[in-house]
This record gives sequence, structure tokens and C-alpha cells, in this order.
Amino acid sequence: MKKAYRASLLRFDDEGQALYEQDGLLVTGPDARGRERVLDAGSHAALAASHADAQLTHLPGRILAPGFVDMHIHFPQLDIIGAPADGLLPWLENYTFPAESRFAEAAHAQEAATFFFDELLRQGVSTALTFCTSHPASVDAFFGEAQRRGLRMLGGKVLQDRHSPDGVRDQTEQSLIDTEALIQRWHGQDRLGYAITPRFAPTSTEAQLRGAGELAAKYADTWIHSHVAENKDEVRWARELFPKARSYLDVYAGFGLMRERAVYAHCIHFDDADRQLMHDTKTAAAVSPTSNLFLGSGFFDFEGAQRTHMRHGLASDVGGGTSFSPFHTMLAAYYIGREGQTKPGLSLAPSRLWWLHTAGAAQALGLAGTIGNLQPGCEADFLVLNPQATPLLARKSARADSLEELLFALIVLGDDRLIERTHVAGR
Ligand code: GUN
Ligand code: ZN
Repeated sequence: MKKAYRASLLRFDDEGQALYEQDGLLVTGPDARGRERVLDAGSHAALAASHADAQLTHLPGRILAPGFVDMHIHFPQLDIIGAPADGLLPWLENYTFPAESRFAEAAHAQEAATFFFDELLRQGVSTALTFCTSHPASVDAFFGEAQRRGLRMLGGKVLQDRHSPDGVRDQTEQSLIDTEALIQRWHGQDRLGYAITPRFAPTSTEAQLRGAGELAAKYADTWIHSHVAENKDEVRWARELFPKARSYLDVYAGFGLMRERAVYAHCIHFDDADRQLMHDTKTAAAVSPTSNLFLGSGFFDFEGAQRTHMRHGLASDVGGGTSFSPFHTMLAAYYIGREGQTKPGLSLAPSRLWWLHTAGAAQALGLAGTIGNLQPGCEADFLVLNPQATPLLARKSARADSLEELLFALIVLGDDRLIERTHVAGR
């Protein structure tokens, strides 16, 4: 059944420029496998006549926009949002590892996965590259729940066989056996994708990193997901553990863990050689600004990333990050970009911030044309935004004189109240 939605419409062209129709039409319908996709998008005046047969929903005053793509989040860290600590390493030891140890229990993992997807959808996030925990039960809960909801989700079992306490530490050989079994069980099922997930270099032995790299070569269309260069103490520790590598990032290159679909959270304490290595290997950075501000980690260098054409997009990094809301993440990315004392400061355009959390994030994940946009062929994951959701939003958005002003009003003032509905594959 062909469906059409008449409302304002936001999408992006292939160069990342925002396209906006004040009176737009989005037409969707199932493909040969029954998966709902965008069939047509543009102005109502231009398209209405050729889709007169579609079931029409008129949404006056609303904006249709692509579902947000969160490039890095931890579903088992729901309950430690806002846990205070003197930086990353004490935060991991005192809050993160104890919370994650509970995910050995399948019932706990299931309850958390249900809450997690409810919350993502409430906030307008339709795809997320997600850390589970080192327990295979956490991965089964994550993918099982995503599959029931028809979501495009990426995730995997954490690998951490050293410098980790009892309860989360895994065993080298078994961890790789478990990872391969989980790839075979979940990767490519419906809309699910597996991510090989070494937590970060300091908590994996060389044998575990080597095994992860071998799996990444054997299963070349899986994702790779880890952390790098987030915090100065972490960087120092990684350099001590791997003295032969040129830099912390270079450790991952040495184990075959940099390629297309490899994603590293943070990428703050980089030099240009690191950025060049990211670019040359088509590896992407998941920029996590609320987390970096909360944990005092530092400021991602957007100028350096743009200059070296390093792939990057936005992420919440909950629970180091303080919000599931893409609006909060985009605003924090703007603040981080502006910071000009430790690196060049620049003003990211509102449409650029939005692209980095939708079509740009999809491109960095190797999913351009599949998610993150509302061009023909994209899967029909989209949002209905209500710019009248609060008195101040209504006042500001009514006074916007340009698309950039409108998008900035939504970014600065928006939160879950702006998300009236999240459509997943048309549902
Ligand atoms: N580095 C290693 N593990 C983690 C984690 O769980 N969160 C963050 N922000 N950084 C990490
Ligand atoms: Zn993280």
C-alpha cells in the first residue's frame, strides 16, 4: 500500500546540503521484500498529481525529517547516566564495570533492552551503533528486541580480557568463539548488523586484538567499534602498554582494526598523522560531545577533521554522555566546535550539525542511501516534528527567517517534546 505524508519536509542532497520544502510530500511503499522505503520526496505541488492513488496523511504545521543516527552509545549504561567521577578511568572502575556486570543475567539485559529502544524511539533515534557488554546474553537481548521492532540496529559483544574486574572480564579464546557465533546468529538478519567490539586497547591483550582483527577480515561487512584518544590518562596508559605503536590510534591499525565500517568514539587527542590514517583507511570518528564535556575529556577538533576529510558524525555516548536527545548532542557539538583555546574554534552551521547526526552519520557508517535521509530508495525511518511543542519553540520557529534560523531554533530549544512520532520502516 502506497502512503503519502503532506507536511514540511527536510532532507539532504548528495553533497550534504539541506533541502527543505515548506509544503512537501513524502511517498513511501514496500519494496519486493516488504520493507517500507521512500518512493518519492519533494514539493507537494510537483508530486501530488502522480501519487493521487496513495493513502494520504495531512500533517499541517509539522516537519518530516530523517530518523536520527547515533554513532556510539552503550545500552547497558542507562542507569549510570550522570554518575560523577574524576574523569574516565575512575568512572569506568566505580560505576561502569559494576553496572555492566549485571548483564550476565538475561532477564536484566532484556528489561534494559526494552527500556533502551523505547527511549531511543521517544527521542527520535532510529539507528544506533551500540556497545552491549562482555556477556553474550546482552547481545541476544539487544538484537532480539531490535528485531521484534523492525529496527536497523548495530551492536556487539564487548571484548575485554585484561585490566578489567571479575564480572566483566572475558577469556581470550572463548571471547572470540562467542563473537563469531554471535556474528553468525545476528549479522545480516533483517535489519541487524554485527559490530566487533574491543572495549579499548588497554583492556584487551594483544591476542584478543589480533583475533578481533582476524574476524574483521573474515567478516568484511561487519562493523568494528571501539574507543580511542578520549582522555589524557587513557592515552598515557595505552602508550605504555603498546610502546612500539606510533600513536594510540596506530595500535588498532597494527591489528587490522581500521577499515571501512570501523568506528572509534572520541578521537580527541589526535595529531594530523592520526587524522590522515583515519582518512586513508576510511575509518570514522563518533564525536560524543555531551560525554566529553561531562567527563572533562577534551574538545573534538572539527576543523582538523574537515581539513583532513576524516569521516565523522555525532553520538550520544550514553552513559558517559548525559542525554539520549539528538538535539542536546547537536547543541553540545556546536559548543565544542566553538571552543577556540585548545584548537581552532569554528561555528558549525545548524544544517551541518543536523547532517552529522543523520545522513552524514549514515555515510560514516557505510549506510549512505539506506538510512539517515529521505531520498528515494532510503528506508522509511522518519520523524514527525512538532515545532509548536513548547511556547518558546512556537514563538522562535514562527519568527525564523531562513532554514538555518529554523534549524538552530529546533537544536537550541528542542528535546523529546519536539518528536511527535517516530516511524520505523513505515510503522
Ligand atoms: N573507554 C572504554 N570504555 C569506555 C566507556 O564505557 N565509555 C567511554 N566513554 N569511554 C570508554
Ligand atoms: Zn563510549
